[in-house]
Amino acid sequence: MFYRPETGHGLPHNPFNAIVSPRPIGWISTRDAAGAENLAPYSFFNAIAYEPPQVMFASTDSKPDRPRGKDTLANIEETGVFCINIVSYALRDAMNTSSGRYGREVDEFALAGLERAPCQTIACSRVATAPAALECRLVKIVDLLGVANAMVIGEVTGIYMDDACLNEGRFDITRFTPLARMGYQDYATIDTVFAMPRPTS
Ligand SMILES: Cc1cc2nc3c(=O)[nH]c(=O)nc-3n(C[C@H](O)[C@H](O)[C@H](O)COP(=O)(O)O)c2cc1C
Repeated sequence: MFYRPETGHGLPHNPFNAIVSPRPIGWISTRDAAGAENLAPYSFFNAIAYEPPQVMFASTDSKPDRPRGKDTLANIEETGVFCINIVSYALRDAMNTSSGRYGREVDEFALAGLERAPCQTIACSRVATAPAALECRLVKIVDLLGVANAMVIGEVTGIYMDDACLNEGRFDITRFTPLARMGYQDYATIDTVFAMPRPTS
């Protein structure tokens, strides 16, 4: 089949993010200007540069107490920093709990029963039990087409890795099993890893 988004797909559910999958999940911790903490997953997320390391995520849609976006976006606008926590299979339920459409006053660390640890380069907490975390300072917010769609670009200023995930000097994802987002309500885990050297010119 083929469809143009403006005329509709005619399917029971939008296939768009099932096509663009699997996606990594950036589990983003932030604080507001008063220091209240927030945590939520974003799968419109990726690494976008090595030097200096940079990441992006996109906030889509708004909520009743945040007409321009969500708590994560608003907090980053207030403080200029955020932390991307990596989600292991073991943390899947806590991640899902943190994704609810809660009021701005809700601290999802507490709600999901998660231990926090202080970031080292930014004034923010990270998920203590996450296998890795990227501490970021805001570079730019880009408004996207449509209503309440915005892309946030950050520079990574500090990187935490759980020592238990280091294996002979490599960050070994088989030590924690990353969770990936698919379409619909689906997730995947990575259980097969193989290497494929690139051609030399
Ligand atoms: C796995 C997963 C991925 C998500 N990815 C996104 C995303 O990329 N962009 C977005 O705006 N919302 C995304 N959401 C929904 C947000 O997590 C949800 O709206 C949440 O309430 C936002 O919290 P906040 O207001 O504290 O930032 C995702 C939800 C889940 C469960």
